[in-house]
Amino acid sequence: MTEDANLAAPHNDIPASVSDRVTVDVHLGPGELDQALRHDVHTGLTADPKELPPKWFYDEHGSALFDKITRLSEYYQTEAERSILSERAAELVALTQADTIVELGSGTSDKTRTVLDEATSNGALERFIPFDVSEEFLREAANMLAARYPRLRVHGVVGDFDRHLANIPTGGRRLIMLLGGTIGNYPLAERRQFLNEIVAGMRPGDHFLVGVDLVKDPARIELAYNDPAGVTEAFNKNVLGVINRKLGADFDLDGFDHIAFFDDEHEWIEILLRSEDDQQVHIPELDLDVRFAAGEYMRTEISAKFRQDGFEDELADAGLHPVAWWTDANNDFAVSVAARR
Ligand code: SAH
Ligand code: TRP
Repeated sequence: MTEDANLAAPHNDIPASVSDRVTVDVHLGPGELDQALRHDVHTGLTADPKELPPKWFYDEHGSALFDKITRLSEYYQTEAERSILSERAAELVALTQADTIVELGSGTSDKTRTVLDEATSNGALERFIPFDVSEEFLREAANMLAARYPRLRVHGVVGDFDRHLANIPTGGRRLIMLLGGTIGNYPLAERRQFLNEIVAGMRPGDHFLVGVDLVKDPARIELAYNDPAGVTEAFNKNVLGVINRKLGADFDLDGFDHIAFFDDEHEWIEILLRSEDDQQVHIPELDLDVRFAAGEYMRTEISAKFRQDGFEDELADAGLHPVAWWTDANNDFAVSVAARR
């Protein structure tokens, strides 16, 4: 069978040569996911101001919309990060000597292939561990990668950053990657906590690689989160769709506006939904009615933008020693590599 035929294999027709090398641990079964969603939605929608945590964007529909965002010309981050990874892959593999790569928030693991290509052909890579809250996408990526790399073992973990980092398999010399500017979706205090937990699972000699979007002309950043085709708007509103589908709510997605603007003081993009009118939403599964005033804002995400000094200080505070800072030709995006001290 050719490699292409393998890649095209549908879900239910995975050759044994591939499935033998794929394991997926599920720490977030459907029951647990529902319970966590109920809790977050109840807490978030009864708070003042209201907010919803970003992990709930990523059901199957949301993950597909995010994948579309990564292919928008306005969303410069994906191609900038890809160019850095492909240019630096050989250097990275020589530097880290990893036999295991862990990818946090792996999604489709699309850009990761540039590193996996190099680490399997000229490095010592034996095992890849994608970790994500989105089970369908993780399974699909795990099978696709096992088909693409015939000697690689793929051990997927379905879990939540906030609860399951300790369930990531240990052993070997590891490179832990966190791409897509995902670290910027945590505000400072939560980011510190997240970094500390990542570092707690590392041993001396392990490396951490993280992609960060850089501070730049606010107009360009804002356009990346306000694409004219409306993909980002649909992605943002999908969090309401998730609550409708999973908890039986009656959110009218047309009754909310997508808002994304650069907050100069915090140097982050603030992503909100604004209620167009006075409205009431019923959430039967929570036995909850929620009132929105006309013009009321609800935060769904922040996306922090970074500067080298500040970010490397954060890494150092978490017990990491920065060893590389690579940017793309435009200086839009950076990939930072750090070692466990
Ligand atoms: N790494 C990809 C995807 C980035 S989007 C890229 O660079 O393009 C963020 C990814 O993190 C999504 O795949 C989402 O499902 C996952 N994610 C978001 N919050 C999470 C959480 N709390 N726990 C685990 N995964 C999470
Ligand atoms: N990690 C991505 C980022 O911060 C997530 C993202 C992209 C996002 N576009 C979005 C989150 C729109 C919410 C809404 O760029």
